[in-house]
Amino acid sequence: MIFIKNAAQLDRMRAAGQLLYEIMQKLREVIRPGETTAAIDAYAEELIRRAGAVPSFLDYRGYPASICASVDDEVVHGIPSVRQVLRSGSILSVDCGLVLDGWQADSAFTMGIGIISPELERLIRVTEQCFFEGARQAVSGNRISDIGHAVQTLAESQGYGVVRDLTGHGIGRNMHEDPSVPNFGEPGRGARLRAGMTLAIEPMISLGSWQVKEMDDGWTIKTLDGSSCAHYEHTIAVREDGPPEVLTLPGYTWA
Ligand code: MF3
Ligand code: CO
Repeated sequence: MIFIKNAAQLDRMRAAGQLLYEIMQKLREVIRPGETTAAIDAYAEELIRRAGAVPSFLDYRGYPASICASVDDEVVHGIPSVRQVLRSGSILSVDCGLVLDGWQADSAFTMGIGIISPELERLIRVTEQCFFEGARQAVSGNRISDIGHAVQTLAESQGYGVVRDLTGHGIGRNMHEDPSVPNFGEPGRGARLRAGMTLAIEPMISLGSWQVKEMDDGWTIKTLDGSSCAHYEHTIAVREDGPPEVLTLPGYTWA
């Protein structure tokens, strides 16, 4: 069942999105060589709670942290650790979600640590572009698969792999609601998009193959071929007309 949010509900999701945006900006500022992913997680939890919100990942199906911190060939769901010290040349994906006043926001970004190769810079840039190409399709009257088709078309045109085993999702009172939002596929399939639908769109794009494997910790997902992977996610709201509002990127205007 896909829940359509009314104007008052969208206001509250907008507030959650704004808060998560501000927190993600603060996290970016502390990510540097020598930092541990556990320290970034602790800071994220502190910022979320200080704002009167609740970390949505913590204790979700037993997940032990407030962020996912995924380095290099880790795709998503990396568990923060005091043993994981960030090194120059790596890339780090930070995924974070919070609940404010009963409403969820979910967002992720990938950034380079210290100095990274032009190849990795390009992977990060194209992954962000994949999000915007996909999200641009989240227009009332289009269908769910139009989003993933746009993501896949751009990613594969650049020689990258699109992770298929994990998808974006509806979001609202719960972190994961219907519909599922794949990052690949034929256009014109799936549920028709309507104003008031709220979605987390989250391309995961690899330098190599799209295939992934789960680690023994029961959470961390890595690329099967060891290639580096980037992740970029925002919570969006479908509008009556035109491209969506990006709730976790307040003030964003479409070119
Ligand atoms: N943002 C992710 C998602 O959309 C991560 C949630 S997994 C968790 O599914 F367990 F860490 F919460
Ligand atoms: Co998500």
